[in-house]
Amino acid sequence: MTRTLAPDEAGITEAARLLAAGELVAFPTETVYGLGGDARDSRAVARIYKSKGRPSFNPLIVHLPDLVAVERIARVGPKARMLAKAFWPGPLTLVLPVREDARISPLVTAGLQTVAVRVPAHPLAQQLLQTFGGPLAAPSANPSGRVSPTRADHVLEGLRGRIAAVLDGGPCAVGLESTIVLADPDPVLLRPGGLPVEALEAALGEPLAVGGDAGKPTSPGQLASHYAPEAAVRLGATEARNGEVLVGFGPVKGLLTLSETGDLVEAAASLFQRLREADRLAGPGGRIAFAPVPETGLGRAINDRLRRAAAPRQD
Ligand code: TXA
Ligand code: MG
Repeated sequence: MTRTLAPDEAGITEAARLLAAGELVAFPTETVYGLGGDARDSRAVARIYKSKGRPSFNPLIVHLPDLVAVERIARVGPKARMLAKAFWPGPLTLVLPVREDARISPLVTAGLQTVAVRVPAHPLAQQLLQTFGGPLAAPSANPSGRVSPTRADHVLEGLRGRIAAVLDGGPCAVGLESTIVLADPDPVLLRPGGLPVEALEAALGEPLAVGGDAGKPTSPGQLASHYAPEAAVRLGATEARNGEVLVGFGPVKGLLTLSETGDLVEAAASLFQRLREADRLAGPGGRIAFAPVPETGLGRAINDRLRRAAAPRQD
């Protein structure tokens, strides 16, 4: 039984109580819904991996209310501090050296010497962090490899019965996961996301190298399948071929659209919802086609997610 908690004081108090008891609670952030558990409690963190079916070598992001709380668990270098001051709270995750006295479960970092940290801007996430009073480990609240949730009912579709509760804050405003950056000593982009790379480079005054997760694939076969709908996905489509559900953008009209006006902010916010709708419309064994999206600003993260949705399946 998974309860839906209202976005009010009673709901937040109950969510914090469940978390303190080692239970899992999904909560809204401005990017996507997170699957929260106490980052200090290995039992709770193990439950996160189990409920998502996530390989335990893939580490989790720790959510904290502010930079002061971040400094209790991680060492914040000069470039990281500058980015934190410019973009927190917001859709930016920083990968930092973990402090020896952090008291974070080793399951969170999957044995690495670094920890990924984020200060979310969503008021409910902030209130929950304040009320709970500790670090929350939270991956996106979806079964591993599937589309990230941007609404409470998406969370229930994937994890109903596997988690204690979901705090319902309505649709997420950004709609794409946070941008992940290793800031010091040299800045590296690990995952494009809800904070455009252009904004980061402007703040840093230097280009961001691309590494890790976000490494440019040279062929689709090198892409880890992720964000996978049931249907097969084709990209760069200007028209629907036999029986495809076309998801348009700007001038390319489809049965559905990411944004009729070609607005990347709107496209990012609607992406995962459209992916789910298109999957439903396509039906078993069906096919989805996506119109081209420009590779600038949020388009970079949108295209990253679309390429993963289209990548060959591992399962
Ligand atoms: O917007 C978001 O980031 C959402 C919300 C809930 O905050 N969270 C999210 O978490 O997308 P998740 O677990 O789905 O993705 C976390 C990513 C993974 O790709 C993981 O490999 C990477 O962060 N990561 C975590 N710790 C890391 C570390 N120490 N070094 C490098 N990458 C790390
Ligand atoms: Mg995820």
